[in-house]
Amino acid sequence: MKNAVDRLVEKLGGLKPEAAIVLGSGLGPLADEVEDAIRIPYGELPGFPASGVTGHAGEIVAGSFAGRPILLLAGRAHYYEHGDAAAMRPALEVLAGIGVEKLILTNAAGSLNPDMPAGSVMLITDHINFSGGNPLFGEPSDRRFVGLTEAYDAGMRQALEKAALATGTTLHKGVYMWFSGPSFETPAEIRMARVMGADAVGMSTVPEVIIARFLGLRVVACSVITNLAAGMTGGELSHQETKDIAPLGGAQLSRIFRHALSEGLLDG
Ligand code: HPA
Repeated sequence: MKNAVDRLVEKLGGLKPEAAIVLGSGLGPLADEVEDAIRIPYGELPGFPASGVTGHAGEIVAGSFAGRPILLLAGRAHYYEHGDAAAMRPALEVLAGIGVEKLILTNAAGSLNPDMPAGSVMLITDHINFSGGNPLFGEPSDRRFVGLTEAYDAGMRQALEKAALATGTTLHKGVYMWFSGPSFETPAEIRMARVMGADAVGMSTVPEVIIARFLGLRVVACSVITNLAAGMTGGELSHQETKDIAPLGGAQLSRIFRHALSEGLLDG
């Protein structure tokens, strides 16, 4: 870990990112908006995941975004790749190790609400871990008993809501339910998810939120809705659809993040 921290600090050459943004499927174009970008392939940093999912680049893009020093993680490891919910732990430990205090997570998700259709964006207010996995399995210390009552930072959520309002962007709010994937849900599972209180379903983010809270990082998360969930329309779901539709929401999230950062709404 020390090795990766030192290596990253060296590569950043004096840049001190105040926040990190994890880019979900199809949200890679956000990385092109970083100015004076320093690009570091995950392969150069011990412990960083070798992501094998198309739509995920697997590199750090650090530089200036909305005039602020920011680090993007373009590409994440998913639980469904190797059954390891802690796959992102080393990377997040390194971010904490270089002094990043705030984490903004993004993902692509299916919507359970016809009034929140494909192309919408949703602020995650809370989650349901339906995968049965947890990134803190095997963690030996009592620190593993992480409280998740306020997992999604109230101040950061407010900042994004304000930024959405100011930019005229509709930001839905809802509960994200984590399914392990990689197969999509069945219509019966979606009916169950609705009864259980979910607004959107997806295959990521929750393990990173748990790890982030374990490490003491403040965290906020947004979903880009790429489809109505299984059984809600006539058609079958596909990863291609996720990749095709995600950029629509990515542009909206970019607007919100940009405003929040440039106006200092995420400070403090
Ligand atoms: N289910 C799970 N993950 C997803 C979906 C979905 O419908 N859409 C995009 N990611």
